[in-house]
Amino acid sequence: MQRSITVDQERCCHCGLCVKDCVVNALQLNEGEVPRYVQGKEENCVGCQHCFAICPTGALSFGNKRSQDSLQVGYGKSDDLLRLIQSRRSIRFYKKEDVGQDILNNLVSMLPYAPTGGNADNLHFSIVSTREKMDEIRAISYQKIGESKDMPQVFYQAREAFAAGNDMIFRNAPAMIAVALNLERTIPGCEIADPIIALSYFELYAQSLGLGTLWCDWALMIAKKIPEIYAKLQIPEKYTLQYIILFGLPAVRYSRTIQPEMFSVNLIR
Ligand SMILES: Cc1cc2nc3c(=O)[nH]c(=O)nc-3n(C[C@H](O)[C@H](O)[C@H](O)COP(=O)(O)O)c2cc1C
Repeated sequence: MQRSITVDQERCCHCGLCVKDCVVNALQLNEGEVPRYVQGKEENCVGCQHCFAICPTGALSFGNKRSQDSLQVGYGKSDDLLRLIQSRRSIRFYKKEDVGQDILNNLVSMLPYAPTGGNADNLHFSIVSTREKMDEIRAISYQKIGESKDMPQVFYQAREAFAAGNDMIFRNAPAMIAVALNLERTIPGCEIADPIIALSYFELYAQSLGLGTLWCDWALMIAKKIPEIYAKLQIPEKYTLQYIILFGLPAVRYSRTIQPEMFSVNLIR
């Protein structure tokens, strides 16, 4: 990670917001100067770019990132986000066609915006993006289930269903995304949260783009139990598979939101 800030002397308004917002107190602003790293504290910088994002005049560049290349901050309409959350359903029926390249590009470009503990660069995503590849994975999975004696009982039932044309494990999805974690780069305590937050962002954004998604414990179990499937995910060394979401164009449409039972909530004052 590139840890360096450059401040345009002309544009800096000396407001000190970058210094105040630095999560590791690595910046200082001396009288008559522009902000800079406190000597020796540069190493503490986690690269969160808060200093860059908060600068009201765009005077601060972070590494090779320039303010003019950023988007205007916008939060959209909260009602729209709530309706998306309420309308999201697990999709178990998919159209035949592959997800288009433009949509895949959008999904990929969204991924690094999910937060990780300590802003760690600790996740890898493997996206199986064609039905052809998914069909290969399906075929190998059900074949290996047939050859194995120690799979969960449900997988033998799923194999029978597959022979009858019903893919209970991968739901006939044309694509899936797997998230893997590099433990060495992960802040202790964030091992579970980091990958799951990333896929939660992915799921909501994918559904906002008209895709169906399914968190898939069964696909995860298959990938962990069958080395040939794990290998197909091409997860880099030092990373371990954490979770899988199936996705694709949905072949079902829901007409209304559900009316879920309330979780137990304490409002503590
Ligand atoms: C962590 C997780 C794992 C899941 N694994 C599976 C799975 O293996 N197969 C499946 O059909 N659904 C799976 N689901 C979907 C749940 O069954 C589904 O979320 C739940 O029934 C509520 O339905 P909804 O997502 O449409 O609100 C999983 C969901 C979560 C959150």
